[in-house]
Amino acid sequence: MSNEEPTTEARTSAPDRSSATTSVDAGEETSDRAAEPDRTIVEARNIDVWYDEDQALRDVSMEVPEKKVTAMIGPSGCGKSTFLRCINRMNDLVDAARVEGELLLGSKNVYDADVDPIALRRRVGIVFQKPNPFPKSIYDNVAYGLEIQDVEGGHDAIVERSLERAALWEEVEDRLEESGLELSGGQQQRLCIARAIATDPEVLLMDEPASALDPIATNQIEDLIEDLAEEYTVIIVTHNMQQAARISDKTAVFLTGGELVEFDDTRQVFESPQSQRVEDYITGKFG
Ligand SMILES: Nc1ncnc2c1ncn2[C@@H]1O[C@H](COP(=O)(O)OP(=O)(O)OP(=O)(O)O)[C@@H](O)[C@H]1O
Ligand SMILES: [Mg+2]
Repeated sequence: MSNEEPTTEARTSAPDRSSATTSVDAGEETSDRAAEPDRTIVEARNIDVWYDEDQALRDVSMEVPEKKVTAMIGPSGCGKSTFLRCINRMNDLVDAARVEGELLLGSKNVYDADVDPIALRRRVGIVFQKPNPFPKSIYDNVAYGLEIQDVEGGHDAIVERSLERAALWEEVEDRLEESGLELSGGQQQRLCIARAIATDPEVLLMDEPASALDPIATNQIEDLIEDLAEEYTVIIVTHNMQQAARISDKTAVFLTGGELVEFDDTRQVFESPQSQRVEDYITGKFG
């Protein structure tokens, strides 16, 4: 119905959060993000995905703006995780999955034959619902991606910086050699975020990163996501509408059948959705 791609002109409008801060003479960080016109970093063009005979995504096209938070919402089974996994080609690891269409990172189709999926996944990190630290030390968890990348020299500075950016450093600086599995759930999730950003990716995919956490840990992750969007493009799947409304600049609504039904500025989607189906979903009439 309304899955048209927004035009470049339309995408230059300031994101929601700017207006929340205008009355307090917008701080530099927010105004920087608000003032810049959007630049597309990820573009899906007519993406279809099948698992064997079952189609999970239908003709999905969207342009994800750089250094913003884009939320993906929709009922269970509508293809949100499938779409995330298209972006870093994790569907390659699913035998039954077949992807058609184009998925551009910058100007390059990540499905081109000359793209190395491992290298791609360093540029497009992912964090899952359930924190999944490796059974290694906190330090080694963060350094993991660097080691397989064979970064020369020590990793101390990058480990520290990644833990700082993931808002975990102060809690773990004296226990870097302890196992990552000994941390609390919320700390483990921040450790996984530190691991994902240690390789300095351009895009960070998050699949319901806070849904297994308590409200305090959830708040920490939400604050962190807003901070991360200063440097990274964040694409987050969430079942929590309030969370999507709070932290995202853009919202994509997928509905049953694997269609992207609406994609627009978050405020627009929540306050005056174009599609009746989206309105019904957002107001809880179905889902
Ligand atoms: N590995 C797989 N093999 C076969 N079918 C799959 C696989 N993964 C997902 N599917 C199917 O694809 C469809 C979309 O699934 P997906 O996990 O992307 O949905 P989702 O929107 O992330 O749902 P949820 O909100 O429950 O996480 C579903 O019908 C699901 O059964
Ligand atoms: Mg999912």
